[in-house]
Amino acid sequence: MNRGKIVSIIGAGNVGSTVAYSLAMQGTVHEIVLRDSKPDIAWGKALDMSQAAAVIRGHTKVRVAETASDLADSDIVVITAGSPRKPGMSRDDLLLINAETVRSVSRDIYKNCPNAIVIVVTNPLDAMTYVALRSTGFDKRQVLGMAGLLDSGRMASFIYEKLGYGSGQIRATVLGGHGDKMVPLHRYSTVSGVPITDLLSGTQIDDIVDRTKNAGAEIVGYLQSGSAYYAPAVATAMMCETILRNARQIYPCAVMLEGEYGYNDVVTGVPVVLGANGVEKVIEVTLSDEERTLFAQSVGSVKLLIDTLSDRRFFGND
Ligand code: NAI
Ligand code: 2OP
Repeated sequence: MNRGKIVSIIGAGNVGSTVAYSLAMQGTVHEIVLRDSKPDIAWGKALDMSQAAAVIRGHTKVRVAETASDLADSDIVVITAGSPRKPGMSRDDLLLINAETVRSVSRDIYKNCPNAIVIVVTNPLDAMTYVALRSTGFDKRQVLGMAGLLDSGRMASFIYEKLGYGSGQIRATVLGGHGDKMVPLHRYSTVSGVPITDLLSGTQIDDIVDRTKNAGAEIVGYLQSGSAYYAPAVATAMMCETILRNARQIYPCAVMLEGEYGYNDVVTGVPVVLGANGVEKVIEVTLSDEERTLFAQSVGSVKLLIDTLSDRRFFGND
């Protein structure tokens, strides 16, 4: 018998539980499995979501993985487990803490469902995707990070805000790492095929680029005690659906580069064809000299994080 699709989510906090809820409301996933270091909270959310699925006459079951072996048979595993920065903690301290979490859960995933596709969400995104890949035996096509779809969606919303028209017709493109140096590409951003450079002034486009780079911080500024989760979760759920349907559509995702764009052994955001095998193909877009320089700075900032982990002997530690 053909079994239904299973998506597991490690970390049932704001992003993880909203990914689960989005998928449960879509109804295309047979089973959603939540795993969290606080299992009771995860159980409460799982029961609530199973009941929500029943209300809309859906059949998605949501349950909790009490042990890592409960992740077996997952088609996709999403990693959102992580800690926020606490007072007195440096960015490097947080980097190391989340790297340890991601290494540990990635190994659990590899041991129990080595054929799954892994979508990393935990920050710092590109470095954590690198950790998930380098700490396990997964093929590079199986491990990818979610950020580009979120950042591009944010840019599209800011373009719409400036224009006041083009609803549903805006396609924005953001490449590079998910950090201050991300590269919103206005040359590749269009409204029904019309480049935004023909619709907006240079100053308006500069505002959109700046706001896109700071969009996460803008939301943290309002929330104070957490970061964005609706748009990140919907973007992650879209990636899951695309993989499960083998839709082979182009999405910006954080992936390991091996020669593409002239880089090796680093993860960063680039357009990829997403399908049943995960990253089916990395697309190399033509960049201008200026765009190439910005992309290099963004990749450089990810390399710094990976180097920090290497300097602390993270990749040699077991
Ligand atoms: P949150 O604090 O609400 O949830 C994190 C969850 O992880 C908590 O429920 C916690 O109990 C759990 N957890 C911690 N260690 C664990 C472990 N070892 N095993 C299982 N569960 C564990 O945080 P939120 O808002 O859900 O964000 C999650 C991560 O996603 C953060 O690192 C955040 O910065 C990142 N993020 C990334 C985005 C992106 O674009 N890539 C966008 C938004 C958030
Ligand atoms: C965001 O961009 C925190 O990475 C997260 O909202």
